[in-house]
Amino acid sequence: MRILLLTHAFNSLTQRLGAELQRRGYEISIEFDIADSVAEEAVALFKPQLIVAPYLRRAIPESIWSQHVCLIVHPGIIGDRGPSALDWAIQEGKAEWGVTVLQAEAEMDAGPVWASAVFPLRLAKKSSIYRNEVTQAATTAVLQAVERYAAGDFVPTPLTEYSDGRGRLRPLMKQTDRVVDWQGDDTATVLRKINAADGFPGVADSLFGEPCHIFDAWPEAVLRGVPEAKPGDLLARRETAVLRKTCDGALWISHAKRAGSIKLPVTLAFAAESASLPEAPLADWWRVDGETWQDIAYEESDAVGFLHFEFYNGAMSTFQCERLRSALAWAKQRPVQVLVLMGGTDFWSNGIHLNVIEAADSPADESWNNINAMNDLARELIETGGQVTIAALAGNAGAGGCFLARAADLVWAREGVILNPHYKNMGNLYGSEYWTYLLPHRLGETNVGGRSRAIMRNRQPLTAQRAAETGFSDACLAGDTQAYRIDVARGAAEIAAAPDLAARLAAKRERRAQDEAEKPLAAYREEELAHMRRNFYGFDPSYHVARHHFVRKSPASWTPRHLARHRDLGWKVPT
Ligand code: COA
Repeated sequence: MRILLLTHAFNSLTQRLGAELQRRGYEISIEFDIADSVAEEAVALFKPQLIVAPYLRRAIPESIWSQHVCLIVHPGIIGDRGPSALDWAIQEGKAEWGVTVLQAEAEMDAGPVWASAVFPLRLAKKSSIYRNEVTQAATTAVLQAVERYAAGDFVPTPLTEYSDGRGRLRPLMKQTDRVVDWQGDDTATVLRKINAADGFPGVADSLFGEPCHIFDAWPEAVLRGVPEAKPGDLLARRETAVLRKTCDGALWISHAKRAGSIKLPVTLAFAAESASLPEAPLADWWRVDGETWQDIAYEESDAVGFLHFEFYNGAMSTFQCERLRSALAWAKQRPVQVLVLMGGTDFWSNGIHLNVIEAADSPADESWNNINAMNDLARELIETGGQVTIAALAGNAGAGGCFLARAADLVWAREGVILNPHYKNMGNLYGSEYWTYLLPHRLGETNVGGRSRAIMRNRQPLTAQRAAETGFSDACLAGDTQAYRIDVARGAAEIAAAPDLAARLAAKRERRAQDEAEKPLAAYREEELAHMRRNFYGFDPSYHVARHHFVRKSPASWTPRHLARHRDLGWKVPT
């Protein structure tokens, strides 16, 4: 069956659905919803038997839904309608939420229901709920709806047939609905409001007396500032975040977007202003008990060390790479046999920090500094001789983040995670992080050969399962977060306790020494950076243009050809 995915962007939900449908033998092509005429053209070319719309910002034209069954993914429970589904659910503290797959009709989100799924609504950021619970529920519901459609005899249920207790039409949530009253709202309320706006659009507020949108809040259990501090006052700074007093406590705010600018770490968006705040550093890398904001945290269980790095959006600036490298070097001195790099809840790593680079006086110089800091971090990991290293991916990884993970001895990913192990989407970036060493070795090639080249060129997302099948990763673990954590801890403990551990480590050191003798890591790095120097400083500005559009969220003006298969030269509807 041919299924056209009509979507606003190739976001992680669309990637997951595309991969899951392909895995079940459906033929998939993708078109971005740019204009009615473009969507109509895609339908005429691909002649889909079914259209699935995972992520749309406007209605499907009647010319399409009146001729084809179009299944819309709505991130809300049955009957819920409107563009701010998740925002309302999070802000109002609902205990349970869901995803509904309904058929497109004249009235938005009001068509008959093909499938739905519900989940407990975690206390978390909207973007996190979207990438985890919503994506999982949408995958379940879409696969069920597609099976029902394929069976041919299923009749979707009109909304009117559902009894009371279902959702309702809600308006777009406006900034007036999101306002934080620092004098009156308790910490839990402020947190819900900032969570409900996370990713986009943020909460319109002010910092240091300047209007801005704020993102990513974390409650603080202990620090309350000086006795005379009032609710709304800024109390302290730590690394990239600032601490703000509420009427019954305090919370950290990590990101801000000033008017006319892009989203940045607060201490960069307000560099001069935040420098005057007192610092509230943490003593060391050990995970702090109780609530606070800690972007790098280490913990141990017997012979296994776990290094967490909760970097917003998985983006890693020069400063963050340097700090993580220090933490890793420190962890390597601990008396542990296995080191697990846990990454963050939503992302493991998405590579260099494109927003920080964009905001720099010289984006080319900052790109150069950032990729060198990433490389130093990757080398620190590759050169770990005393422990078995594991990259454990609870969240997605993209571009350099995937190759940083590959610098570990083992890569384990939670089922449901999406990996994008390629760089070319960012203006034909060549990439570094020693990928020319890591990928071919991993795939059993002597140098960048057919399979490595195909992964880099095809630019396709890999599900955790597919990544393990292709050999890019080593294992796909449980999808449920709790079960996944248990899997990781148990697997790491087994390696640490295995009788052959000493032999395994000795063999690893010997292999690394042989590899180094054949071709030093420095040579790989030099070759990769020669390409990157051209990307950053050469006459072709593609990378700078692509980054500019990426961080400013410019709407797409065409669908990349590697996604829109129906636009391939010579593509024909199979007979
Ligand atoms: N630097 C800065 N911000 C980044 C980033 C990076 N490397 N990668 C992702 N982000 C941000 C996005 O801008 C977005 O920001 P928002 O909070 O304003 O929404 C957020 O992270 C989530 O990204 P999004 O693209 O919506 O997530 P996704 O899960 O749908 O897609 C990727 C994941 C990896 C495919 C996509 O984010 C991507 O292509 N990132 C760039 C990777 C890259 O080229 N890195 C540089 C080369 S090493």
